[in-house]
Amino acid sequence: MHSYKQEHLQQGETELHGGVLLDRLPYPDWLALAARSAVFEAVSPDWVVSSTFFVVRSSDHRLVGMVNIRHTLNEYQRCYSGHIGYGVRPSERGKGYAGQILRLSLEFARSIGLKQVMLVCDKSNRASRRTILANGGVLERECVHPDGEPIEIYWITLA
Ligand SMILES: CC(C)(COP(=O)(O)OP(=O)(O)OC[C@H]1O[C@@H](n2cnc3c(N)ncnc32)[C@H](O)[C@@H]1OP(=O)(O)O)[C@@H](O)C(=O)NCCC(=O)NCCS
Repeated sequence: MHSYKQEHLQQGETELHGGVLLDRLPYPDWLALAARSAVFEAVSPDWVVSSTFFVVRSSDHRLVGMVNIRHTLNEYQRCYSGHIGYGVRPSERGKGYAGQILRLSLEFARSIGLKQVMLVCDKSNRASRRTILANGGVLERECVHPDGEPIEIYWITLA
C-alpha cells in the first residue's frame, strides 16, 4: 500500500481515485474507518454505503488499482461523482486494467441491485472516457465541477 501511494505522489497525483480518503489517511487508520463503515455506521450524515475493492494481479500479487462503488448517491454524488470511481497505479496504466476494473465493477453493481450507474469523467481524461464508452456508457450531459474542471456525466444501463 505504501508503494502504491508513493507512486502516485511521485507522479504529482495527490488524489487516489477509488481509494476513498486513503490519500488523506495512514493505511491503518483507513482500515479502521473501513471496518466501522462495514457495519454501516454513518461516518458523516450525508455519506452513503460503498464498497471498495483492491485490484490485485494474480501472477505477482501486485496492487494495480482500486475501485469504489457507491450503493446509492447523495446529492453531491448525483451531480459530480456518480456511482463508480477507479484508479490504476501510474506504472500499470495503458495495459487494459481500467476496462477490466469497470467491467467487474458493473457486475458487482448489478449484484447489489443497481439498474443503471452514473460515471463522471473530466472532459480532459481521454483514457477514462474511452473506458466508460467501451463499457456501454452514454453521455447524458456536460457540466462544470465545483473545482472549475469541465466534466462529462455518463450512464450505463445494467441489463
Ligand atoms: C483513467 C485510468 C483509470 C485508465 O487506466 P488504464 O488501465 O491506463 O486504462 P486502459 O489501459 O484500460 O485503457 C483504457 C482506454 O484508454 C486508452 N488510453 C489509455 N491511456 C491513455 C492516454 N494516456 N490517453 C488517451 N487514451 C488512453 C486506451 O487505449 C484504452 O482505449 P481503447 O480500449 O479504446 O484502446 C488511469 O489513467 C488512471 O488511474 N487515471 C487517474 C485516475 C482517474 O482518472 N480515474 C478515472 C476517474 S474516476
